[in-house]
Amino acid sequence: MTTITLDKIKTIKTLNNIAKSGMAVLKDENYKVDNEAKNPDGIVVRSYHMHDMEFNDNLKAIARAGAGVNNIPIRACAEKGIVVFNTPGANANAVKEMVLTAIMASSRNLFQGIEWVNSLKGKGEDVPKLIEEGKKQFVGREVKGKKLGVIGLGAIGALVANDALNLDMDVIGYDPYISVDTAWRLSRNIERAMSMEEVFEKADYITIHVPLTEETKGKLNAEAFQRMKPGVHLFNFSRGGLVNEDDLEVALKEGQIGKYITDFPNDRILHMENAIALPHLGASTKESEENCARMATHQLKDFLETGNIRNA
Ligand code: MLT
Repeated sequence: MTTITLDKIKTIKTLNNIAKSGMAVLKDENYKVDNEAKNPDGIVVRSYHMHDMEFNDNLKAIARAGAGVNNIPIRACAEKGIVVFNTPGANANAVKEMVLTAIMASSRNLFQGIEWVNSLKGKGEDVPKLIEEGKKQFVGREVKGKKLGVIGLGAIGALVANDALNLDMDVIGYDPYISVDTAWRLSRNIERAMSMEEVFEKADYITIHVPLTEETKGKLNAEAFQRMKPGVHLFNFSRGGLVNEDDLEVALKEGQIGKYITDFPNDRILHMENAIALPHLGASTKESEENCARMATHQLKDFLETGNIRNA
């Protein structure tokens, strides 16, 4: 590997804790990591919400160690010529494992069962009898033979779709922007829907894997919920803004949505019996944090040294 010596040391600032193995990529004489720097050449960020006021004239690139870039003012970056990288796919396996866990957990009332058993603390010798009587309320259903709808067949959606086949689920997917690469990696056994509505109407379980944009904001709304099968299980490990919260609350109360598991808590659904909210844990694994950090810093380094822009 050729080592490039830059004419000027580049200053890098990190706005979150970035995995050590990622920062190690920047450990050579060309770089100085200084989190107090006022004029960094590059920024590495995870989920910190940036504001364009934080930009300086020297800033050349922002590397987001993660997939979504909604915490970065993209338009302002474009206007100022600041390049933004993200790390598509680097955390896809982690999110996929979480989504499959959620699908199984919702089918078997896992969270509700745990909460209920915990509530028996202090009941002493009555516990076995209470369990015998109470467990009936948690009878679940099997995912085998049920239809999973996957909206968005990017890095994460494609993995979820392929692996759900191994659970003997039928899978229907929708993505108007699917890449040729992903199309090849997608199992031939996955039914391709012609519209999002088709997925809404056919699926018993629906998981959404699209970025939050003007086009997708609030896409899961009353109209969408009405098209879904009554009692559908819905999973959102992408972004909270994809869902219209008022409509969601109504659909959950009416049971139109049977179960909702999300990584994006909002006040309206907390403590609802059929909703579970997690603290944005989908991509929170050691492996994924390292993958994202390494991909982000490699991209940043490559750009600062050669001007090469690659998003992978
Ligand atoms: C992502 O966008 O990569 C995931 O939501 C996790 C994260 O925000 O870091």
